[in-house]
Amino acid sequence: MNVDSLNWGDLTPEIFLAQYWQKKPLLIKQAFANFKDPISADELAGLAMEAEIQSRIVSTNSKDDWQVDHGPFEDFSQYGESNWTLLVQAVNNWSRPTHNLLAPFAFIPSWRIDDVMVSFSTPNGGVGAHLDQYDVFIIQGSGKRRWQVGAPDSSLESLLPHADLKQVSSFEAIIDEITEAGDLLYIPPNHPHKGLSIENSVNFSIGFQAPSSQELWSSFADKLIDNNLGEQRFSDPARTLCQTSFTITPDDKKQLKAFMLQQLEQEEFYEQFMGQYLTQGHHALEILVPVNDIDKDKLLDILSEPDISFMPVSGLKAAIINDVQLTLFLNGESFPLEKQTLALAQQLAQQKPLSTSKMKRLNTCLKNTQLLTDVLNKGYWYIE
Ligand code: SIN
Ligand code: CO
Repeated sequence: MNVDSLNWGDLTPEIFLAQYWQKKPLLIKQAFANFKDPISADELAGLAMEAEIQSRIVSTNSKDDWQVDHGPFEDFSQYGESNWTLLVQAVNNWSRPTHNLLAPFAFIPSWRIDDVMVSFSTPNGGVGAHLDQYDVFIIQGSGKRRWQVGAPDSSLESLLPHADLKQVSSFEAIIDEITEAGDLLYIPPNHPHKGLSIENSVNFSIGFQAPSSQELWSSFADKLIDNNLGEQRFSDPARTLCQTSFTITPDDKKQLKAFMLQQLEQEEFYEQFMGQYLTQGHHALEILVPVNDIDKDKLLDILSEPDISFMPVSGLKAAIINDVQLTLFLNGESFPLEKQTLALAQQLAQQKPLSTSKMKRLNTCLKNTQLLTDVLNKGYWYIE
């Protein structure tokens, strides 16, 4: 299987973006030919036993009571053979083959992608009809599932069959299909959907990141405070006599808004905030800090070994902003760049393994050595 090649059929990524993205759901049968699960159900169960990995099991019984249990799990035997689903978040941070499922979606910038959630469902297992606030691509792995997707509908009732499980009332499906290995389902935000497993089945959900305005404002305010950048006070030297002392005039309001917006107009600060915010992971990563720092001489030793590869930590979020201050962002941290270090930074942001010979060609000056040793010493890339 070559996951890089998404078989769009009559569509193209351009047509998909124009006609479907954030607009309507889509099922592409056999988007991936000969699809094989990049992680086995046993390995998934192993991840759900780890405390730092978020996982849950949603199950129902014959009386249609819903139960939600949160990981880490020690044992799955109590759940039996049917009516339950195990969901594990950010599996791409722990399984590189799962992370590689993101490659065909590179027509959307990586900052917009959050994680790959993997679910293993037994017959009749599922989380019920619900809405998500984010776009999702669901790749059907092994097994079969019945997927139903509807259009946004404000008359749907919100249900809470368990304190940790939001569902909606039944909806009219505009997609109602049995998915098989290699099928790809796209669901825009707020479209009701329901996946019910027909047999043991695995689903890979590529979830997107869409910050809310309140999350952005609150993080921006935190960054202003951390940098002591919002300390100046409102001033009004052009004030004239007021008509009524209890009125906040439209002009006062306008001046106060302009005063607040000045903070957003500090372009360099704003772009540093955005780069850091958008590359900040939401789930634990397997960061591999070297036992001893790698200095220039150690790096030269490493570069002389032919059988070594430089690897990015799986699931690391990376971006480059080339506007006011050329910067590489990794995991919410800024690495200022210069023209000479841009080629290396682009390779680091692209996150494909690099051989020592390729790295040697990129390590053209002391500034590149500095950038590379910094990134290695922080554990964002490692040597294998
Ligand atoms: C699942 O894989 O069971 C849930 C995926 C989703 O509905 O978003
Ligand atoms: Co969903």
